[in-house]
Amino acid sequence: MKEMVNCARVRFPALGENEGFARLLTAGFLMHLQVTPAILADVKTMVSEAVTNAIVHGYRGREGKKCFVFLELKFYSDRTLMITVTDLGRGIDNVEDAMEPFFTTDREGERSGMGLPIMQAFSDSLRIRSRPGRTVVTMRKKLP
Ligand SMILES: Nc1ncnc2c1ncn2[C@@H]1O[C@H](COP(=O)(O)OP(=O)(O)O)[C@@H](O)[C@H]1O
Ligand SMILES: [Mg+2]
Repeated sequence: MKEMVNCARVRFPALGENEGFARLLTAGFLMHLQVTPAILADVKTMVSEAVTNAIVHGYRGREGKKCFVFLELKFYSDRTLMITVTDLGRGIDNVEDAMEPFFTTDREGERSGMGLPIMQAFSDSLRIRSRPGRTVVTMRKKLP
């Protein structure tokens, strides 16, 4: 049976600069595991896409001090990494629509609508649970 061998949980305010912080935290968590640069890049992208979504969509219009993003990392004995990103924001209206390539509710035209498809493509599994007030995105990836 697989066992959890390491875990970390961090809470930070929904500020754009914390996307980089989340990427580096994740890289640090994996530092001793001799993950290839390509896999590490994939994992960092998964984290930054999920954290960016929490900040720009979850907390749209109210990014900052009182809005928090939670990043949880768990590593299991079968080398599965579990990443959970939670926000307490507006929620996703329709998860099925949101998963579609190029679907975006961004009105400024800055977003590609490819965040969730990328997270899905780079992970072994992606699960989203969302309602107004809470969105939880869970991704698993087996690290070779
Ligand atoms: N944490 C979240 N809270 C609220 N809505 C979200 C969240 N994550 C994703 N969404 C919704 O799903 C859509 C698609 O997300 P994504 O594929 O990352 O594309 P993009 O971020 O480029 O719009 C977003 O435009 C948004 O409407
Ligand atoms: Mg996105």
